[in-house]
Amino acid sequence: MAAKEDLFKKITSHAKEYGFIFPSSEIYDGMSAVYDYGQNGVELKNNIKQYWWKSMTQMHENIVGIDSAIFMHPTIWKASGHVDAFNDPLIDNKDSKKRYRADVLIEDYINKIEEKINKECDKVAKKFGESFDRQMFLDTNPRVLEHKSKMQDIQKRYADLMTNNDLAGIKALIEELGIVCPVSGTKNWTDVRQFNLMFSTKVGSVSDEADTIYLRPETAQGIFVNYLNVQKTGRMKIPFGIAQIGKAFRNEIVARQFIFRMREFEQMEMQFFVRPGEELKWFEYWKQTRMKWHLALGIPKENYRYHDHEKLAHYANAATDIEFNFPFGFKELEGIHSRTDFDLKRHQEFSGKKLQYFDSELNESYVPYVIETSIGLDRTFLAVFSYAYTEEQLEDGSQRVVMKLPRVLAPVKAAVLPLVKKDGMPEKAHEIMDMLKQDFKVQYDEKDAIGKRYRRQDAIGTPYCITVDTQTLEDNTVTVRERDTMEQIRIGIDQLSGFIHENIKPLAL
Ligand code: GAP
Repeated sequence: MAAKEDLFKKITSHAKEYGFIFPSSEIYDGMSAVYDYGQNGVELKNNIKQYWWKSMTQMHENIVGIDSAIFMHPTIWKASGHVDAFNDPLIDNKDSKKRYRADVLIEDYINKIEEKINKECDKVAKKFGESFDRQMFLDTNPRVLEHKSKMQDIQKRYADLMTNNDLAGIKALIEELGIVCPVSGTKNWTDVRQFNLMFSTKVGSVSDEADTIYLRPETAQGIFVNYLNVQKTGRMKIPFGIAQIGKAFRNEIVARQFIFRMREFEQMEMQFFVRPGEELKWFEYWKQTRMKWHLALGIPKENYRYHDHEKLAHYANAATDIEFNFPFGFKELEGIHSRTDFDLKRHQEFSGKKLQYFDSELNESYVPYVIETSIGLDRTFLAVFSYAYTEEQLEDGSQRVVMKLPRVLAPVKAAVLPLVKKDGMPEKAHEIMDMLKQDFKVQYDEKDAIGKRYRRQDAIGTPYCITVDTQTLEDNTVTVRERDTMEQIRIGIDQLSGFIHENIKPLAL
């Protein structure tokens, strides 16, 4: 655990040191759970957006994109249920005066049991060596089974209490489990209260007449309320999807884990409109398709897992999360939900406008059912960033930190480096820059020894370093050093563009 915490600290400081992520308003001591993306961070973030946008709107002929406003009519949030129910249960410790999410305290407790299982497993694995069958141990060991059953029992009890909005019951569960405040170490808890996560503000110049509006807590509602506009103007036929990338805002009580849980963040959401009765088929399709999207980045599949929801929200008839193995354990990265016709029906009811679709094949009108895929852009950033962070001991005894980012997402695709700052090498390097910058984000660097320049590029995850040397001036060839293997090949300048293009592609989707 300590090693993992240590790793997470290193990752956050690397993100700052190399211009990926800065704390927001840092010179004013920062703002909790708000971050700014620096010169390399914004490139990585834009590349993630592009990879998602292309996979949705270019690789699927029946999905189009929109960009709806952040401000929306306040009744939208009544219809969607956010005004009444977009709450987190919070609890305060009277001694430390610290505020916690009750569900997170319980989740942490469950995670500790999971850690115990893993420790137990590691201990036995050490003893038995290669002959150890981990899965068999997890499925049959009595102590592990006891731990698992305890975890399931707590999860079920908590879900039931939440469904019944039994806040006193949640407090009783926290007390029964003996959960203490991590700061004061005491069990001196207040009652549990519900806390609405939406930020509100006023619109209009005269405050008396001002209306309360909300900063959107999800981008999805902008899609729902525009679905007929898009369907009609785009002549879309069911099944079809609408995709959107944009900011969302939540007044998170527990602001922690860097960009994992922020108050201002970005979502990439897609609503897929289908015939009633066909939603579970499409849910399965999107479950598989979204996992393929993650794996096409080349990050090994053991870093991902599904978490199917047993307890479903009242509007959903199937739901799963794609979880990622973050430095602090497996956590939700993306949600895939079969949301039935709940949202559209509610908007129909609250707006008084018909939101039906005429299906010419069936010759009938209906409110479509919706499958939603919803992924956090910042969480995807954190997933690829933390996976990529690698410390390596090299043969010559030196150390390097290399960001093994999926090449398609790397902020800079190639660095062009003249071996020395003379003999016409910088001029040749600039010629190469001019040629490549039409197609790729490239960087020129002539400062310091070549080894140091390689390290700088490794630290931001640049897949290729192109070096101009004496031979280049004679035969128009350069060396190309690959980031992960550090192997070098020699190729003609005229081959560079094709070479980079071919090697930065993600796996086929
Ligand atoms: N429209 C459905 C929806 O918003 P959600 O599970 O609340 O569902 C979807 O959010 C995704 O948005 C999550 O899987 C996560 O990746 C991201 N997300 C949610 N809250 C976040 C936060 N406070 N900070 C960063 N990302 C967040």
